[in-house]
Amino acid sequence: MYYNKIDIKSVRKDYSKAASSLAVEFVQEKAVEKQLKTLLVKYNINISILQKTNFLDKKGRELFIPNPESGPDYLYIYKLPGGEDKLSVDYFRNLFAGLIPRLHKLNIKSLQVYPSPYSQVRGVFENTSYYYQTIIEGVLLGNYRFNIYKSVKDSLSKLSVNIKPEEEIKLGAIIRKAGLLVESVYFTRDLVNEPAITLTPQEFAIRTKQELTGNGVKVRFIKKAELKKLGMNSVLAVGEASDNPPLMMVLEYKPKVKAKRKVALVGKGVTYDSGGLSIKPTNGMIEMNADMAGGGTVVGIINAAASLQLPVHLIGVVPAVENMVSGRSYKPGDIIKSYSGKTIEVKDTDAEGRIVLADALHYASKQKPDEIIDFATLTGAVVVALGLPTAGIFTKNDNIADALLASGKKVNEPVWRLPFDDYYNTLIESDIADVSNLGPRWGSAITAGKFLEHFVDKKIPYCHIDLAGPALKHKFTSYTEKYDTGFGVRLVIDYLSKL
Ligand code: BES
Ligand code: ZN
Ligand code: ZN
Repeated sequence: MYYNKIDIKSVRKDYSKAASSLAVEFVQEKAVEKQLKTLLVKYNINISILQKTNFLDKKGRELFIPNPESGPDYLYIYKLPGGEDKLSVDYFRNLFAGLIPRLHKLNIKSLQVYPSPYSQVRGVFENTSYYYQTIIEGVLLGNYRFNIYKSVKDSLSKLSVNIKPEEEIKLGAIIRKAGLLVESVYFTRDLVNEPAITLTPQEFAIRTKQELTGNGVKVRFIKKAELKKLGMNSVLAVGEASDNPPLMMVLEYKPKVKAKRKVALVGKGVTYDSGGLSIKPTNGMIEMNADMAGGGTVVGIINAAASLQLPVHLIGVVPAVENMVSGRSYKPGDIIKSYSGKTIEVKDTDAEGRIVLADALHYASKQKPDEIIDFATLTGAVVVALGLPTAGIFTKNDNIADALLASGKKVNEPVWRLPFDDYYNTLIESDIADVSNLGPRWGSAITAGKFLEHFVDKKIPYCHIDLAGPALKHKFTSYTEKYDTGFGVRLVIDYLSKL
């Protein structure tokens, strides 16, 4: 975790004389000539006519100036998108997250940031503090590495970041908040990136307990013997083939103040998905250490909520299992009697996520929360539908859907609502059990969600989030490119903050 190696401060004055330093400035497209001129005077620089023409051109977006006469060792001037190229909510987060690795390559130790005044970016962000928060998140997210297994690591020297906000802005609280939030995103990312050889169900549980109990969250494990006693046969069946026994994590965060709402968060914690007897080809298996991302997201959200002391009561339920192959494997053709009493016909052992979640959702329902949200890398089909960056949401509740869509836009963790009509239930009927774990090929992300819904108390508002795309690394942003992403932590913290 390199979060500690970055030190972000709010400064009131230009901070120009630090050694190995780089400054970042912004200009607006519509006033580019005038604002550029001011900066050329401020840093006492001459640029070539060619550089200037390129920068003033529509396509010119950045100017890199080594050794300006005054001030830092390097200077970046960025022209904010304007006009048709609209400034996006993710512009600063993405820009700073992409910049940080470059700074490490240049061996920069001090970054000076001069953000544009809010008036120049108004209308894009929810409010002023969120605008600044995106800058800080970008810096922090850009500093993430998962390199514990590399003998030769790229050098990350300690970076100090000085941000000079507008006069009336108190940046301290925003820096603290973003720091706590991103720390939890880091925690989730470390869990998801960890290979399955290390992150067994037990290890997942131990790390979660270590991190969260220190933060005032109650963490309890339902181990194999208790799973048997309770009749959690879905979790047991999927976990049976592995030498690493399954368990169910139960977490609880209770705020000190009276809670506005009790929300249950359920996460798929398959620490490795080989497919079981319906075995996957090698290519399909490679990233399946990340099949616990839903569970990782749940523990990250609860950790962040506790750090930020959100006034919501949270219950986390994460079944942690390895879907493996052995003489004890569960088999296509099996019928499992789940914790709820409903029976499941197993037609494909690779559709294991929905089976383990059946017990978890029933357990969550019994806690009588005001709503249940689950997170799962459930289907390849949702990635076919939406591509990598966007999660699918499935719910009958318009309020939850609208609020998640709004949060997703705001924090740039996009979600998209897919159909969830009861018609799809006809596709997973079974002749010999209450429900089948496999529907036809078409609409299979939806039938997977409808299967889950069978195990949720009908009176409780429910939403399923399939994050098989965005939980895994993808090139949509600079901070999701190299490692599994921790998708959902920032999204749901924003959602919960608004309840
Ligand atoms: N863990 C996979 C889904 C997955 C695929 C997650 C790719 C991330 C990336 C899940 O358990 C699975 O294997 N689903 C099958 C379902 C099928 C057997 C009905 C799938 O999507 O092919
Ligand atoms: Zn599977
Ligand atoms: Zn899976």
